[in-house]
Amino acid sequence: MPSATAITVTPEVSGEKIAKITADAPMKLDSWHEDLLRDGFCVVKGAVPKDRAKAYTNEMLSWLEGFDLGFKRDDPSTIHRDNLPEIDQKGMCLNYAISHEKFVWDIRTEPGVVEAFEKVYGDKDLIVSFDAVNFGFPNRKDLPPNKPWPHQDQDPTKPGFRVLQGLVNLLPNGPKDGGLIVAKGAHKLSEQFHKEMAWETPIPAWNPEWYGYTDAGMKWLADHGCEWVKVCAEPGDLLLWDSRVPHYNLSSETNTPRFCVYTCYMPVRDASQDDLIRKKAAFEGWFGTTHWPNCQVTGKNKAKRNGEDDPHNRFEPRTKPVLDERGYKLTGIPYIQTKA
Ligand SMILES: [Fe+2]
Repeated sequence: MPSATAITVTPEVSGEKIAKITADAPMKLDSWHEDLLRDGFCVVKGAVPKDRAKAYTNEMLSWLEGFDLGFKRDDPSTIHRDNLPEIDQKGMCLNYAISHEKFVWDIRTEPGVVEAFEKVYGDKDLIVSFDAVNFGFPNRKDLPPNKPWPHQDQDPTKPGFRVLQGLVNLLPNGPKDGGLIVAKGAHKLSEQFHKEMAWETPIPAWNPEWYGYTDAGMKWLADHGCEWVKVCAEPGDLLLWDSRVPHYNLSSETNTPRFCVYTCYMPVRDASQDDLIRKKAAFEGWFGTTHWPNCQVTGKNKAKRNGEDDPHNRFEPRTKPVLDERGYKLTGIPYIQTKA
């Protein structure tokens, strides 16, 4: 059982004010929340009911089969890039408007998923990323090897807790089944790391909210006691991690695929009006984003096949989402202020 530490969640999100131990107005945190604050990552068990996780998996497989390129869910020999939309060696599928497929939005608006983020931020006015889907099939010989790319998804010049990342795991995911691996507790060392490693020439960042760890950086983490932990989960579990935590993903070493949908939320008050306007354009154009919900980077839905634009590219979802009021708020659009 978790300890009964008296912790009050404060409305502030920046810095380390996310949770303060106080004597007054005590509120016991969920054990996963305590794990998150201590280790920088956690598993929220059963955020999505198992039957719905199974239904989402079936929808993902149907989405792949729907390209009519030859992939068949019951025939592993059809797992080949010629038979599939563009999925990279990390399992990422970024294009084809997949970020706005109905099944993706249905996962994003799962109450158990949204509520976990509401608890961490202490705020119900959230916006959500239009992030990727991961189809991590095992035994891929037709793709380059998935080499480790340890990184944190946060600008090293902006320390402190800023955003919480998440993914909904959809298949049984054990130690050898591939998936998220994190440097436990490294969120608390991030600021020190960047001060002490400032001498190093950084790996070029593909966007400012990214930092890649070199061999020297990995040694620093090891020297400071950071243990790399493969996060295991059941279908429907929500994995959460502080964006300062170094992480990457592993490919499956078993015959079990690893499927997940990335779900990341932040308080709308941390987004500017320009961010929200850019986000509205992404939503209306069916474009994806990174995991940062304030839409710093927008995708293009231009997948490649053999070096050329994929003739199977799609520019709108196969099944468009149906958003209720809560889902529509997560797009950020209702928070755009109209000029008087
Ligand atoms: Fe990442």
